[in-house]
Formats: sequence, C-alpha cells, structure tokens
Amino acid sequence: MIEFVIADDYDDMSRKAADIISAQIASKPDCVLGLATGSTPVGIYACLAEKYNNGELDFTHITSLNLDEFKGLSHDDKNSYYHYMYRNLFSKVNIDLNRAFVPDGSIENADEACRRYEKNIADTGGIDLQLLGLGHNGHIGFNEPSDVFPKRTHLVNLAESTISANSRFFTYKKDVPKQAYTMGIGNIMESKKILMAVSGTDKADIVRKAFFGDITPNVPASVLQLHPNVTVIGDKAAFSEITDYI
Ligand code: F6R
Repeated sequence: MIEFVIADDYDDMSRKAADIISAQIASKPDCVLGLATGSTPVGIYACLAEKYNNGELDFTHITSLNLDEFKGLSHDDKNSYYHYMYRNLFSKVNIDLNRAFVPDGSIENADEACRRYEKNIADTGGIDLQLLGLGHNGHIGFNEPSDVFPKRTHLVNLAESTISANSRFFTYKKDVPKQAYTMGIGNIMESKKILMAVSGTDKADIVRKAFFGDITPNVPASVLQLHPNVTVIGDKAAFSEITDYI
C-alpha cells in the first residue's frame, strides 16, 4: 500500500519525514535505518539532529545502512557519501559509528566490496525503515533504469544524467565518479517500511511515472508499487502531476 503525504514545502516535508523516522526510533530504539544521501534528505537530517539536541531522540542503539557510495572514493574523501552522512547526521547525533554502515568505495574489487556490504546488511537482521530519494530518471539508490531489477548490492555504471546531476558537487567534471556501489532493488524491497521524500517541480513527472505508470525496470522506483508499506512525502510541487489521483 502506498500512502501519499502532502507537505506545504521543503521544510514541511523535512519535518514530516523526520517525525516518521522519530516515531520509528521511539517504537524500536534498536531499529535498523536504511539511509539515503542527495539534496532531498539534508533537511530531514537537520530536523533529526535538532530533535536529538532537544533530548527527543536517542541513537545509541540504532544501526544504519546507507544505500550507496561512489566507487573510488574513500570514506574520508569530502565528496564521498560517507562524508556527507558524517557532516549531515553522524557527527550531529550519538550514533555508534561502528554500526553506521556505508559501502566502502575504496575497495577496488567489486565482488569483494559487494560481498562485504551484503554481510553488513545480513548481520543487522534486516532494515526496519528505508529512507529513499527519487532520481529524475526514476532511480532508487543507484539502481539506474535497465532491463532488469538488480537484486543485491552491485557495482553500477552511473547514467549520464546522474553523472551530470552529481557534477554540482565537484570542481572538475573529470573528477565526478562514473561508477558506484549500490544496494539492489531486492535489498530495498526487503525492508519492512519505505519512506520516500520528494521535493520540487522537477520531480513531478517522475513521481507520476513511478507511482501511476507501469511497473518496469526502466523506471526502477515503479517497483515500490508492489511493496506493502510505502509512505511518499512530497511537497505540493513534487505532487503537482498526481493531485487528481491522491
Ligand atoms: C542517494 C541516492 C539517490 C538519490 C537520488 C535523488 O543515496 O540513493 O537515489 O536519492 O538521486 O537525489 P536528490 O535528493 O539529490 O534529488
């Protein structure tokens, strides 16, 4: 089942998404959170950090698993997703860094990198709540449009549109990574709950295709139509093409 929650704007979306994550932590203090990077969750993480500072949240027993990481970037590279997570959340709350997992982009051997991350995922016992953003081409994690839904953690060649979207964070285009390690669609679908956050008119078209179009690996997020527990939080702009359906 998919529940759509309409937010007024980006800040409202961030607060509402953070409230759902807080409720998850309150109901299961040792839960496993699946986390995402990108522009969309920055406000959500700021709200979670604020709640932690106010004494409303405790991350002591939380385990986290991030969706993806650029191949070739180590965790201390400022453009790595680990570094993003450290800046936006890990350094701001009392999460145990030994239980805050992000694929290791510095591992050159893809089979080894993916095998290790699959072990991390398996050792946690499974994800309780997976936070997702939505790529303009419908990707979730870095599962790009393709002919199949990849099951498990794998090495992916990033789509040209994804590389140019990511280039905003790099001084030189040549430095923008062209490959990433990502959880597969199977990993995402196995999580008990999914929380997707979307914001802005530039996501309106893909939100409609993902949730009201055909289920196809050409629009990877469309697979979420088959998940039993999905909440999509979007601002009015991101939902502007689906207001007649929800
Ligand atoms: C990031 C990730 C990606 C992003 C997506 C949207 O970990 O897995 O799927 O969620 O590219 O990115 P933004 O939020 O920057 O529009």
